[in-house]
Amino acid sequence: MDILEAMQQRKSARAYLAKAVSRRDIEEILACASFAPSAINLQPWEFIITYGEEKDRLVRRLLKARSEKMVKCGPGTEKPLPEKISRRAAEAMAVMEPEISTLGLTFNQFIEEGSCSFYGAPVAIIVAIDKLFPVVRYLDIGLAVSYLLLAAQAKGLSTCPIGLITAYKEDIARVLNISEEKEILLGISLGYADESSPANAFRTRRVDLQEIVTWYE
Ligand SMILES: Cc1cc2nc3c(=O)[nH]c(=O)nc-3n(C[C@H](O)[C@H](O)[C@H](O)COP(=O)(O)O)c2cc1C
Repeated sequence: MDILEAMQQRKSARAYLAKAVSRRDIEEILACASFAPSAINLQPWEFIITYGEEKDRLVRRLLKARSEKMVKCGPGTEKPLPEKISRRAAEAMAVMEPEISTLGLTFNQFIEEGSCSFYGAPVAIIVAIDKLFPVVRYLDIGLAVSYLLLAAQAKGLSTCPIGLITAYKEDIARVLNISEEKEILLGISLGYADESSPANAFRTRRVDLQEIVTWYE
């Protein structure tokens, strides 16, 4: 698959087939992620991979943590977002909600429970960075995550980045024995998308370039 095609076709999948992903495919995808550029080639990213019983154990712990703390999904900002930006989220919700409601769940229930269970994907990836790095190095992690998502796409696999689980990072660290020196930044679900599910029946729109680009010519 052409790289541009992979970029255009990728979208987050929120329902997966019960089809295992081979260890070899996971390794190839991770190797592609590690081709990402990083400042002075520090490669600060770390990936913790779980599948099978280990992933189920992680999901059980996350769902328990969710039932106790009930963290809501949101942009993580302290100040309210400008209308122009919050409209983008509202538009995405408007595209998703009609499909989600056919599953008999509220939007928040679907996203919050679904995120904590990696949407039933066979593989759950935790992305971490050593706490000694400054926040600016999270940029490098973002690049590696992009590479990972696109490599998965090129292999006919689907993903969903899952930030919500970082609300339960102490639980994740305990289940997976992740050192206190590591910052857990993101989860990623990986698997074969269930294309017949309403949870995958929509695509979110992007704003026009003129809204995000300034030209001087
Ligand atoms: C850093 C990050 C965190 C995200 N966290 C979640 C999440 O917790 N749950 C979820 O369902 N989707 C999550 N997403 C997926 C976004 O909702 C999705 O990328 C966005 O709506 C655009 O849709 P698309 O990925 O289908 O193009 C996250 C995406 C990113 C990049």
